[in-house]
Amino acid sequence: MKKIWIVTLFPEYFTPLKECGVVGKAFRGERGAEFELNLIRLADHSPKDFKGVDDAPYGGGQGMVMRADVLKNALDHIIKVGQYSAIKKDLHIVFPSPRGKKWEDGHARGFAKKLSKDFHKDLVFICGRYEGIDERFIEAFVDEQISIGDYILSGGDIATLVILDSAMRFCPDVLGNKQSYTDESFGDGLLEHPYYTRPLEFEGLKVPEVLTGGDHAKQIEWRKSESLRLTKKHRPDLLERK
Ligand code: ADE
Repeated sequence: MKKIWIVTLFPEYFTPLKECGVVGKAFRGERGAEFELNLIRLADHSPKDFKGVDDAPYGGGQGMVMRADVLKNALDHIIKVGQYSAIKKDLHIVFPSPRGKKWEDGHARGFAKKLSKDFHKDLVFICGRYEGIDERFIEAFVDEQISIGDYILSGGDIATLVILDSAMRFCPDVLGNKQSYTDESFGDGLLEHPYYTRPLEFEGLKVPEVLTGGDHAKQIEWRKSESLRLTKKHRPDLLERK
């Protein structure tokens, strides 16, 4: 059982992760893959609930900084309830931050390995808020920083959702049809071809004839050329990278 711990001020952010879609099913054990999602409310590990989790930065400056000791209390709690032997040995600690390595398809595929049984550590996500977290906590405990893009979110919670949702789709058994993540956009460095379903005609627009005929070889060719066409049109940068 792969355990995922999320240290956050707002556990409510993660309710949908357990409840919705294929990732929700995986967390509910309905996909063969075994994951356990544990939400750690950071305020429970501060001496003064919400008020004790952050403090003014030394040297002045705007905003508040999350306290390293409160974050460490949360880790100690994880060690205790998860019955681990040591933080470094048993846990891989991820801190989503604009400073981290940029999250892209290849990164998500690689990260998925850390969600597999072959990776002998469980995962902890530290969701920062306010101006950030005390640098000493990062130095002492964080193994990996991940940025989901060059913009600033109000906290690491949404970044954690993005990371988990996109990486879990690459875990065996999470997607019903294994083909679906090889076919989809970025699978071969291109965007995916378009899809059509009933009705045959919508707002005067017809489904491409090749898809309603029975010639599978032609349909494969059509998918390839449409994938190329859409990539050229919407994401020409992807073709330059190839
Ligand atoms: N926290 C705030 N902004 C972020 C970003 N762009 N990526 C990851 N974590 C963040």
